[in-house]
Amino acid sequence: MITKAELRPTPPPNGVAVLEVKSEPESIKAARDFVADWFAENAYDSDLAYLARTVVTELATNAHRHGSDNGDPITTRVFNTDAGPVIEVLDASTKLPTVKPLTLDGLTGRGLAMVDLMVPAWGFTRLPEGGKVVWALLHAHA
Ligand SMILES: Nc1ncnc2c1ncn2[C@@H]1O[C@H](COP(=O)(O)OP(=O)(O)O)[C@@H](O)[C@H]1O
Ligand SMILES: [Mg+2]
Repeated sequence: MITKAELRPTPPPNGVAVLEVKSEPESIKAARDFVADWFAENAYDSDLAYLARTVVTELATNAHRHGSDNGDPITTRVFNTDAGPVIEVLDASTKLPTVKPLTLDGLTGRGLAMVDLMVPAWGFTRLPEGGKVVWALLHAHA
């Protein structure tokens, strides 16, 4: 299921937590810890927080590996909506994700297919200011 870009959830006016880091391998842990802290602060249960850490790890790894050169900015955003919490990862590349079919012998190309199985909706869209955002809506409850 690839959700249409125009369905990207709208953040609340004052409630977006933002972490910007430079693209490097350590950025992935930084994004994961940032999201983990946010889910703890927002009193989500540990199953949903675990899912959130897994999702942001895939999206941040992709931003680092496929959507940036070392030192380029990677921004992680997380916020609540009526449908559930949303995680967004923005990078400066206009190249869009491509979900690959799952195969028995492939060693890579599973990240987005896994995300697709784990969340009710996700998608991506280019941004007017350049680059793109990949977002994932999590269920309100795990
Ligand atoms: N942030 C991104 N920027 C550019 N391309 C991306 C991004 N995320 C994913 N892609 C593209 O989509 C493909 C599938 O991503 P994924 O399922 O995570 O597999 P993998 O990362 O193992 O290749 C990647 O190989 C890449 O070509
Ligand atoms: Mg990947």
